[in-house]
Amino acid sequence: MSAYSETNFNSQHYDDSRPNYTPQFYKELINYHSEKGGEFNLAVDIGCGSGFVTFELIKYFKNVIGTDPSRTMIDQCNKNVTNKNSIEFLIGTAENQPSKIKPNSVDLITGAECCHWVNHERFYKESARVLKQNGTLAYWFYKDPIFIGYPEANKIYENYTYNSSIEKLGSGYEKWMGNYYQQPGHDYLRSLLKEKSPPNDLYYDVIRHEYIVDRDGVPKNEVDPFKTKTPLFIKKTINMKWFLNYVKSWSAYHAWMKDHGDKYDIAEEFINELKNKLNWNDDTEIEVIWDTVYTFARKRQTRLVNR
Ligand SMILES: C[S@@+](CC[C@H](N)C(=O)[O-])C[C@H]1O[C@@H](n2cnc3c(N)ncnc32)[C@H](O)[C@@H]1O
Repeated sequence: MSAYSETNFNSQHYDDSRPNYTPQFYKELINYHSEKGGEFNLAVDIGCGSGFVTFELIKYFKNVIGTDPSRTMIDQCNKNVTNKNSIEFLIGTAENQPSKIKPNSVDLITGAECCHWVNHERFYKESARVLKQNGTLAYWFYKDPIFIGYPEANKIYENYTYNSSIEKLGSGYEKWMGNYYQQPGHDYLRSLLKEKSPPNDLYYDVIRHEYIVDRDGVPKNEVDPFKTKTPLFIKKTINMKWFLNYVKSWSAYHAWMKDHGDKYDIAEEFINELKNKLNWNDDTEIEVIWDTVYTFARKRQTRLVNR
């Protein structure tokens, strides 16, 4: 994940090229949180990145703090703050919250598209330390965009994202990005973090909701957020110009370019392969849908949790 912390990482570009989360999803989250009397004083958004979720939470909470280990991301967020009394951004991690966040003080912790990178045992414990009793821990991810109706495009995507051309094709240097992701985080993303769950001694009412896209057969008229089986439904009509920016926002892209950027730009190569094999141009419109998962949990009544 170090790519996000590098000073030359373009966080504005990141902001523009990533998918966002649906109003239905926020509604589901807020319903879960209020069901058992959750309060709305303080929410903390960990791994806030460019602040998508942090800025949304201010609609519901009196105060919101976004934290991220990346100074570059925090600086970008601070540029967008208009009301310094109710929202702030601080350096911190899921495992080690900034000291300003006091024990038993937080009503809701959110972690979007970041909790696959963390040390889970420490993250669950640290979240329980700062959450109020019955406070909500909520984290979620989207995985890969599935090109609806284009199995060949999905195979090309799989190669560039998960595979090694040295292992698969015997190429002289690495032409794909599978080995350029930090592990085990990328494997956790691939499995939608099935392996980890908030521990029972600290949390109760744990909900995990997974949505797997019907790979290649979703009829267009059924691709409708109100008819799908998840509130965390992320669909977009994209073209290759958008997709190029999306690939350029990946940490693995930055890591690959560090090693091989003198040869060519791997994002452009990837997009050219899609365009050539699928007969697409920069403006061809394609529908993509992401596999998603969300987990909600409530903090149990516990004695003070230490770090
Ligand atoms: C893919 S971005 C997600 C940003 C934003 N939450 C979103 O939904 O778009 C992942 C973020 O996780 C942050 N991150 C990496 N390691 C972390 C950790 N141990 N604890 C909290 N955040 C972490 C990175 O700096 C990066 O900003």
